[in-house]
Amino acid sequence: MKLLKRIPKPLLITAAALLITFAVYVIHGNGNVGVTELSISSDKLPKSFDGYRIAHISDLHCAKFGKNNQKLLDMLEGIAPDIIVITGDLIDTRYDDEAVGIDFAKSAAVIAPTYFVSGNHEIDNDDFDSIAAKLQSVGVTVLRGESVRLYKSDEYITLVGIDDARVITGKEANQKARDVIEAELEKLPPVGEEYTILLAHRPDMIELYANKSYDLVFSGHAHGGQFRLPFIGGLYAPGQGLFPEYTEGIHTVGNTNLVISRGLGNASFPFRINNNPEIVALTLKCE
Ligand SMILES: [Fe+2]
Repeated sequence: MKLLKRIPKPLLITAAALLITFAVYVIHGNGNVGVTELSISSDKLPKSFDGYRIAHISDLHCAKFGKNNQKLLDMLEGIAPDIIVITGDLIDTRYDDEAVGIDFAKSAAVIAPTYFVSGNHEIDNDDFDSIAAKLQSVGVTVLRGESVRLYKSDEYITLVGIDDARVITGKEANQKARDVIEAELEKLPPVGEEYTILLAHRPDMIELYANKSYDLVFSGHAHGGQFRLPFIGGLYAPGQGLFPEYTEGIHTVGNTNLVISRGLGNASFPFRINNNPEIVALTLKCE
């Protein structure tokens, strides 16, 4: 208190005003969800899929945007998707509140066919089998090393999804997680002639997805790098550390395009800076 008394009053008032402005900016930014429009072209896509719309949701972490997540659902309606994909961390292991994620997925599935793969927060939950069963029962297709065909007229593309790796800590954690993901991919049928999309939570495994020749991959997990610095990008992401490369947008390795969502909610670190939550809306185009 003595120290505070020594600081000139105008300086104290300025510091308090700056602190309040920063808090308002952070709170507003964390609730200010937006739609990011992206497009990808391929000569492998059947003609019927020209203009096919995919809404991509990731890392909700049981967050709420409006009552019953109505704000997100209205935005999904506005995207007019052919399908919705959810790439994990819909729930959060720290909260006993899985209903928020499941209710949201149930409402999403009314808008368009919805497909889900686990993130670390689901696969690390001992109840994941029952969570997956609940998602299935509300009309969401849970892909656990499975593939489905998506039809448009009488043409189709393939959608596959893998479980995430359970959280591994300690020495060589990243390599161990990589081995798990590689083994999950190994269980899937090889990519054939048809355009094939993979749902996989972790973007930093892009080389593994490219090795398998997936045409398109959707991931999340990086939360946009949590704080986004001007001219630099994300500050930190799990599995990638400081100044991560894979935090948002489209990245291409070989013939594989990876779409990364910055996601919607937060995990252990409770807020984002300069990194508003997003829903990705991807349009496929025939070349
Ligand atoms: Fe997450």
